[in-house]
Amino acid sequence: MSQIQFPQDFLWGAATASYQIEGAWNEDGKGVSIWDTFSHAAGNVQNGDTGDVACDHYHRWPEDIALMKALNFQTYRFSIGWPRILPTGRGTVNQAGLDFYSRLVDGLLEADIVPFVTLYHWDLPQALQDEGGWPARSTADAFVEYADVVSRHLGDRVKHWITHNEPWVVAFLGNQVGIHAPGLQDWNAALKAAHHLLISHGQAVPVIRQNSPDAEVGITLNFTWAEAATPTSYQTARYFDGYLNRWFLDPLYGRRYPADMVATYTEQGYLPNGLDFVQPGDWDIITAPTDFLGINYYTRTLTNDDTDPHNMGSRRIPPQESELTDFDWEVYPEGLYNLLNRLHFDYQPPKLYITENGACYNDGPDANGRVADTRRLSYLKRHFAAAHRAIQNGVPLAGYMVWSMLDNFEWAEGYDKRFGLVWVDYDTQERIPKDSALWYKDVIANNGF
Ligand code: FCB
Repeated sequence: MSQIQFPQDFLWGAATASYQIEGAWNEDGKGVSIWDTFSHAAGNVQNGDTGDVACDHYHRWPEDIALMKALNFQTYRFSIGWPRILPTGRGTVNQAGLDFYSRLVDGLLEADIVPFVTLYHWDLPQALQDEGGWPARSTADAFVEYADVVSRHLGDRVKHWITHNEPWVVAFLGNQVGIHAPGLQDWNAALKAAHHLLISHGQAVPVIRQNSPDAEVGITLNFTWAEAATPTSYQTARYFDGYLNRWFLDPLYGRRYPADMVATYTEQGYLPNGLDFVQPGDWDIITAPTDFLGINYYTRTLTNDDTDPHNMGSRRIPPQESELTDFDWEVYPEGLYNLLNRLHFDYQPPKLYITENGACYNDGPDANGRVADTRRLSYLKRHFAAAHRAIQNGVPLAGYMVWSMLDNFEWAEGYDKRFGLVWVDYDTQERIPKDSALWYKDVIANNGF
């Protein structure tokens, strides 16, 4: 008997992203993405790692589907590589790219696994970056063209669509902090990018609906739970909530950009021409009704009097006694519980999915080939329990996708940081389900634990 029982039809699975697992970076007509360019340039990624080969999923997908099936996955969230479909971002369609994803979708459906598709998980065609990237509004038009091509082709079989994964990361880590592709450090460019990402989302939603009848369409945001460790750093905590959470939530749910953040960004000189990138009609576009909100949650943001509100790097000050993952992110399941309640009460999305949650622990195989990742298992168990408590409070949470199905290319950290339920040996491409995966398999079978 399970002690914690999830609602009937709760959807369990795991997530990946194209650039992080596929490899085959220049095969079958694929165009170059900003992550190809960024990782190929010296100094951007730990150890000079690239996604050229990654988990070789492009060639090994049948084996990977078989593994998911063996682990009882009910859904699999993956992303489509835009440059495989439209090698220069718009215009000519690469049929081989569409065929690849079409076979993947068919393979999943045959295995009784629901395909949960993300259209944009950060691999922008380089040709579009050369025209200005997300800070240019024309990139939003190209995204809608891309969304149209993909949803026309897969929309009969794919019924769960995510337009964007973590627009905050795209806009700010890519264009302001600069640790992700394309590596810019320009606040104004990042704020423009954020707006164009939101516009492209809102414009794509009706197109996807048209091409994929009865589908669920939504967007995934990365959330933090911001808290002040000292009474005097409350405003700093509020700033991080505005920067990371509200800058995207508020416009999506009809509140436009948060006034306190507009004032702060104006004071800081990040908006020299005000919100000049907002055009008439934009708020109506951005608020296109969606079916769900996708939640990516890993850790909280704790501030104290030393936290510099304008420096991302200073925002996490885990208490001395706190438990850290191998990425030094604090383990804080209560943050997930608080966040789910807050989203439900403040914004009322009709449905929520956890589209990413998981932890970096680098444990590898022992002498017998077993990966005893006890800490990941414990992390997941506590976060599942937090999600369950939120459901008990009435939060309409409909599914849970663990990040990640496989160890993979962790962006600027390269292959050093392992988030997988399944271990990957990057020399042989052998896959070994870790203890957490075997435990998760039973959780899915019992719909609880
Ligand atoms: C999220 C990303 C995902 C992965 C995890 C650890 O921000 O969406 O691709 O890198 O973090």
